[in-house]
Amino acid sequence: MISYSRGKGNLENWVVSEELFQPDSLGKSEAIMYLGNGYMGLRSAAEEPYMKEVRNLFANGTFNKAGENEVTELPNIADVTRLDIRIDGDRFSLEFGKTKEYIKQLNIKTAELMRSFVWTSPKGKVLQFEFKRFVSLDNLHLIGMKMFVKSLTDPVHISFDTGIDAQMSNSGAQHFLEGERRIFDKKDIQLIQTTRESKIDVVISSTHKVFVNDVESINEPEMNMARRKVWLTYNIKLEPNDRLEVEKLTTVYTSRDNDLDFTEYTTRHLREKSLSDLRNCAIKGYESNFQLHKEAWNNLIWSSYELEINSENPYDLLALRFSLYHLTIMAPAHDDRMGIAAKGLSGEGYKGHSFWDTEIFILPFFTFSNPAVAKSLLTYRYFCLEGARKKARENGFSGAMFPWESAWPPDGEVTPNLGDIDIVTGEPTKIWSGFIEQHISADIAFAIYQYFNVTADQEFMNHYGYEVIFDTANFWVSRLEWNEGKQAYHINNVIGPDEYKEHVNNNAFTNYMVFFNMKLAIRYYETLMKEKPSILKKLITKFDMNKAYSLWKAKVGKIYLPQPRAEDFVIPQDDTYLTLKEIDLTKYKNQKKLRTIYRDYNSEQINAIQVTKQADILLMLYLLNQTFISEAVPLSNAVKEANFYYYERKTLHDSSLSLSTHSILASEIGDTDLAYSLFRKATEVDLGPRMDTSDEGIHAASIGGIWKATVFGFAGVRVVDGKLRINPKLPKQWRHLKFKIHWQGQPITLVLSHTTFSIKVENKKKIEFELNNHIYECDDVLNIDFEYING
Ligand code: BGC
Ligand code: BGC
Repeated sequence: MISYSRGKGNLENWVVSEELFQPDSLGKSEAIMYLGNGYMGLRSAAEEPYMKEVRNLFANGTFNKAGENEVTELPNIADVTRLDIRIDGDRFSLEFGKTKEYIKQLNIKTAELMRSFVWTSPKGKVLQFEFKRFVSLDNLHLIGMKMFVKSLTDPVHISFDTGIDAQMSNSGAQHFLEGERRIFDKKDIQLIQTTRESKIDVVISSTHKVFVNDVESINEPEMNMARRKVWLTYNIKLEPNDRLEVEKLTTVYTSRDNDLDFTEYTTRHLREKSLSDLRNCAIKGYESNFQLHKEAWNNLIWSSYELEINSENPYDLLALRFSLYHLTIMAPAHDDRMGIAAKGLSGEGYKGHSFWDTEIFILPFFTFSNPAVAKSLLTYRYFCLEGARKKARENGFSGAMFPWESAWPPDGEVTPNLGDIDIVTGEPTKIWSGFIEQHISADIAFAIYQYFNVTADQEFMNHYGYEVIFDTANFWVSRLEWNEGKQAYHINNVIGPDEYKEHVNNNAFTNYMVFFNMKLAIRYYETLMKEKPSILKKLITKFDMNKAYSLWKAKVGKIYLPQPRAEDFVIPQDDTYLTLKEIDLTKYKNQKKLRTIYRDYNSEQINAIQVTKQADILLMLYLLNQTFISEAVPLSNAVKEANFYYYERKTLHDSSLSLSTHSILASEIGDTDLAYSLFRKATEVDLGPRMDTSDEGIHAASIGGIWKATVFGFAGVRVVDGKLRINPKLPKQWRHLKFKIHWQGQPITLVLSHTTFSIKVENKKKIEFELNNHIYECDDVLNIDFEYING
């Protein structure tokens, strides 16, 4: 059971909690309350072990292949969170005895996990427990843990094992070679692991302090080692009302770290670094480290994003904060060789790989709110160019064909080949996305265009951006297929965003995005030719720019762009979609679990039905509306409405990426009630009360979508070809919305209500923007009354 109203006073709408312990539903709180800082992610499994737990610690970028036939994945590194506790010799577990006042909660404001309860042992001894944990945003290598135990009734003997456990795996797949283990001074423990194939060293060091009634215990622990494991056992006697307090601090270092200050890498250096950092942290102790972490959250995140919502449903504000929390902990802001995984760092799902989820659903938040992180994420894609070129060559194309799934940049395409069971054949289904879901190359080009328009970061374009846009256009030139009969270029045999349609011809989303990608290349080429030919010259070493330009020009105008049907303005999602059989989708539209259609049909059968997994055409309308090619796209309100209602009825939202786009479109066509209800559904993908939503990990794109539906949907913010446009459509449940965006290098704060609008330009550099079709200028503060301008 998840609860949203536990936070009181200045913690109101800052706390997500679980108020009932259910040993069969552990995944939910483990994932949605996971802790992290972009460098690492620690799933919030309980200290004491349970059968169905998933205990994960991931360090971003440490990809490894577990075997010959596997794709690379983010390995689950050694665990430091497990504590095996015994009370008078009996194992402590919430599955025995009686538990009262159970509460597990994530304090979003301070990014701290807390668990507390009163437990009566099977022998009738009553103890009070409290656990706390954080993964520091101040020192990215640091994990802090704390345990308090108080015996309320009887003298008890408590003993616990605590250490570093590398007997971990990814659902059985073992990624590491067994490394050295060591205990220093009966206190600090260290374990080294090395990934089998990628040969990355991971060094974990932990230290403990034990207090009874605030006095440090002098009891020496027992020292233990086993295969892949090293730990200490403490034995403590507690009298009634004695209070035991245990602090455990851990540092995590890997040979992939980009902040190592020694010139030549050796494992010994890394071990020393990990230990010396640990000892410095130990001098400060849990509380001071926690204070620094808390301040970092306050300064870097909450004070910087300044988000406020006054809604009749307080949950909405909590959901937005939850979204900012997760966007922060999933993003490797520290290292531009790393991307964001589809599940963040919260679980094994999708193996830590990055998809188009980043560019289309997550990146917009950073582009508008924290451009430095957006730049880092796009630079990651630049580093993936070599892999993209290799993929193009291997498939007989030129240019850069971005991998559908990406890991460490040189790995290139890492999509697995086989997936879930086919209910008809009983065999695993072949996964086609790595071969034919190709729109990602154009999605990345779009994201760079959006980043440049919002930030005006010319440096980034000169070094990275132009090259990606030109070389993806080169790929498309080689990918287009001439259709003699139609005298047009077609793109056959693809998967569009709607993955329920495989091997389709002319997926409208793909064709239009390709058209945009090539037009963009032409546009930038022509501007550079006039203004900065030296940038073009530099690129000549990579490919023949003049030839490329003439090919784009020759082909772009002949790309087939599916048009709305004359009778009802519906744009065909692909060549056959509108001719497919229609079935009653009510059962699946009302489903409690996702993808129930697979219980009745296999992929081949789904392919032959007018049913859509996720936003496809609608996403295209939304994206291209922001570009300079909008004239080439049928974007009238009538077309938007026709397509919205046609495809919304056919869309099962079986991918969590879908709801936020439909919500934004619903706002755009003025159906604010529907927009709000789709927004609420999007927030519930992870945060909702259902306990089985997030076992494999949180849904990073959906979490980015919560912010998008708010700022692009309800606040109606758009950057249309470099111009800032705002058309607010606040839902009736919201009284007021405040947020900050960075517009061309300058932070601006917007505050909206149903009748008023105010904008504050932080650096007092004059900006121009359009609000409800009126143009304004502002270099300080401007307050506008809607009734006045609309009347
Ligand atoms: C997703 C694909 C993905 C595949 C393998 C499927 O569930 O829909 O996009 O490539 O899993 O990771
Ligand atoms: C969606 C894809 C998405 C992937 C990873 C799939 O279910 O259909 O669009 O990229 O999940 O989140």
